[in-house]
Amino acid sequence: MKRQAGIAACDFVKSGMNVGLGTGSTVKYTILELGKRIRDDGLNIIGVPTSIETEELAKKVGIPLADLDSLSHLDVVIDGADEYDSNFELIKGGGAALLREKIVAQASKAMVVVADERKRVDVLGTFPLPIEVTPFCHETTRKSIESLLRVRALVRMNGDGPLLTDNGNYIVDAHCGPTILRPRDVEQQLLHLAGVVQVGIFSGMCDVVVLATPAGVEVVRNPSGRL
Ligand code: 5RP
Repeated sequence: MKRQAGIAACDFVKSGMNVGLGTGSTVKYTILELGKRIRDDGLNIIGVPTSIETEELAKKVGIPLADLDSLSHLDVVIDGADEYDSNFELIKGGGAALLREKIVAQASKAMVVVADERKRVDVLGTFPLPIEVTPFCHETTRKSIESLLRVRALVRMNGDGPLLTDNGNYIVDAHCGPTILRPRDVEQQLLHLAGVVQVGIFSGMCDVVVLATPAGVEVVRNPSGRL
């Protein structure tokens, strides 16, 4: 299902575009397909990766890459999500790439999300909310997150130590449960904490979800979206 959605999303990419390349096991299939279309069909694009992992994969399949800073604009970003609700609000960061993903999504003219139907929820929060925090005083920040949200929040581990993001930060996962009724408010409250670098709530960004279901791929457009 992930493969089907990943490939179908390539229809939003046309020659001449600058394309943000998300991170994760679904968008991996988009990246592989874009590489194939470059080789076989002469598709002409420039990619902007959202993680070191994606950068390595994109290079391997022959997608020309550039820094966002060196481009005048980004036409579209294609990325995965951990959850999305009926208002096209997202939780992202399951792959710890949320900061770069959000910088790229914010800079893009449009955002296409690739997902399977398990990601569709009524209320966000069953997937623990990823929050990127500074290593400095991360325990203080973790406790502040707990008291702000009144939930348990845990530093994501990688073996014996905290997982390090591509930016050298840590991830705190907040176990909210399906309670995030006002995602933008939660995002803004968390961003007030000095140790919080970024929050895995992507609000007002997603234009289309390319959704894989057992019956096939469905393209679900956000009625207030840009695509
Ligand atoms: C990485 C992300 C991913 O897009 C998200 O975790 C979805 O990944 P997958 O397609 O593997 O389920 O936000 O930070």
